[in-house]
Amino acid sequence: MPAGTAASKDSGKSRRTDGDLCVAQPPQLTVSPALFEKFQKLIYAETGIWLGTSKTALLCGRLYRRLRALEIDSLQHYYECVAQPDQQDERARMIDAITTNETRFFREPRQFEFMVQKILPRWRTEAERQLRPRRVRIWSAGCSSGEEPYTVAMLLARHLPAEQGWDVRLLATDISNRILEKARKGIYPIAKSEELPRDMLHSFMLRGMAERQGEIKVKVEIQQMVDFRRLNLDRETELIEGPFDAIFCRNVLIYFDTASKRRAVTNLARHLVANGFLFVGHAENLCSMSSQLRSLEPTIYTKTSDQEVP
Ligand SMILES: C[S@@+](CC[C@H](N)C(=O)[O-])C[C@H]1O[C@@H](n2cnc3c(N)ncnc32)[C@H](O)[C@@H]1O
Repeated sequence: MPAGTAASKDSGKSRRTDGDLCVAQPPQLTVSPALFEKFQKLIYAETGIWLGTSKTALLCGRLYRRLRALEIDSLQHYYECVAQPDQQDERARMIDAITTNETRFFREPRQFEFMVQKILPRWRTEAERQLRPRRVRIWSAGCSSGEEPYTVAMLLARHLPAEQGWDVRLLATDISNRILEKARKGIYPIAKSEELPRDMLHSFMLRGMAERQGEIKVKVEIQQMVDFRRLNLDRETELIEGPFDAIFCRNVLIYFDTASKRRAVTNLARHLVANGFLFVGHAENLCSMSSQLRSLEPTIYTKTSDQEVP
């Protein structure tokens, strides 16, 4: 291939050739208000996530890699591709790209203190009085790369151990395939050790050796407690087999608009046992979102009844 630059206008692709190298041109990522609105609607219909108009740069930035991988030179061409009815796989990749996956072990520690001090003793006492089985089911909805469900699994392994007859399982779901792959591996950079209390780190994490140096890994007994699955919280919650004693849905609903948030909260409440617990993120208030939920503390709710009040 001759050195120099050659642009092919066919199929929206452009290429630059550098000697033997053939380098895709950085795409021109501009988005008109009309095109942004199309993406906004598509993403909302797929996920319940509402991208406000202030998120134009975010959309361009996050889709840049997809366009580069596909050698597509404009968001207009990308939209024409991704909106096709048979392009479910590409839509899943678009969602992978646009979701925000920030998370930490023991994020919002006050909630875990509440669990250890209030909820777990109650469940133990109820089990001793044979008012409940020694069986606990937890759902982490919007689990990202796994730090949240693994945190809960570690706490439950410590406080409701299998050796005392407790049968504890967690379901961890997210819409992003990419992040779920990471979550299932349970491998994290060693800097994340800082997020874990020392005793939890020593009991439940392995330190990487040789080629795994610089990493930590969740021990297999914790990994085995968690079942990771792709699930769209805005659409597919009927596919979940509950009910759950507690649900963590933290820092997910902030990306939803009021309608999708209300739908999701109603579905979450439906999947809780009576007197079960719902944990949400620090910026999320479920005030008047569901008649079945009562606030115990900011960001912690309990289900008061099995009756939905329309
Ligand atoms: C900011 S992370 C929060 C992770 C964790 N819950 C925490 O608080 O640390 C939000 C997660 O919600 C997921 N998410 C966004 N919309 C979703 C939807 N409609 N269904 C399921 N998961 C969704 C994203 O992929 C992302 O991993």
